[in-house]
Amino acid sequence: MNDIEKIMRMAPVIPVLVIEDVSEARAIAEALVAGGLNVLEVTLRTEGALEVIKRMNLVKGAIVGAGTVTNKNQLEDALAAGAEFIVSPGLTEPLGNAAIKSGIPFLPGVANAGDIMRGMDMGLDHFKFFPATASGGIPALKALSAPFYECKFCPTGGISYETAPSWLDLDPVLCVGGSWVAPKGASPAEIERLASEAASLGA
Ligand code: 3PG
Repeated sequence: MNDIEKIMRMAPVIPVLVIEDVSEARAIAEALVAGGLNVLEVTLRTEGALEVIKRMNLVKGAIVGAGTVTNKNQLEDALAAGAEFIVSPGLTEPLGNAAIKSGIPFLPGVANAGDIMRGMDMGLDHFKFFPATASGGIPALKALSAPFYECKFCPTGGISYETAPSWLDLDPVLCVGGSWVAPKGASPAEIERLASEAASLGA
């Protein structure tokens, strides 16, 4: 089992985090880990995202990665901040080659057969299926998984607590990603409750 697969198998849901206020980072990570979700994807969509990664890394048990990584510069920044895995919404050769060269566990986004084939040409077989619901949902992933039977996926985008179980039932799906476990403005207690509900999806 390679490193990205180990990370994908740690919990049924990877929280996709958009953190505006750096001072909330540690409490949010603690709440997620306490609820049973220890793999955390911090999106590089906010000014303080790299600092959020550093602070969340101080939380015992948290495996903190960077999401929304779209180019080599962001990859380098994320690595310097201590990201333990990298998620991207799509796959380009410059980013893919740099991520592979760095050796960090890498989960690039794919939405169609051509994307998957480009990834496989680079030696990749673990992908984020993104945007999962808008790209055709479960029927689309089932259809893609027939020719690409050796690939594993983390569908993300438009998935909720209610819809996650049907995705997790698919053999090639190791986990799903979603922002619903840490909604904007939610208290740590509420986030812990949502995380523990999400963590139980894998039971
Ligand atoms: C992502 O950035 O991976 C997705 O936008 C998260 O999708 P969601 O907000 O629909 O869960």
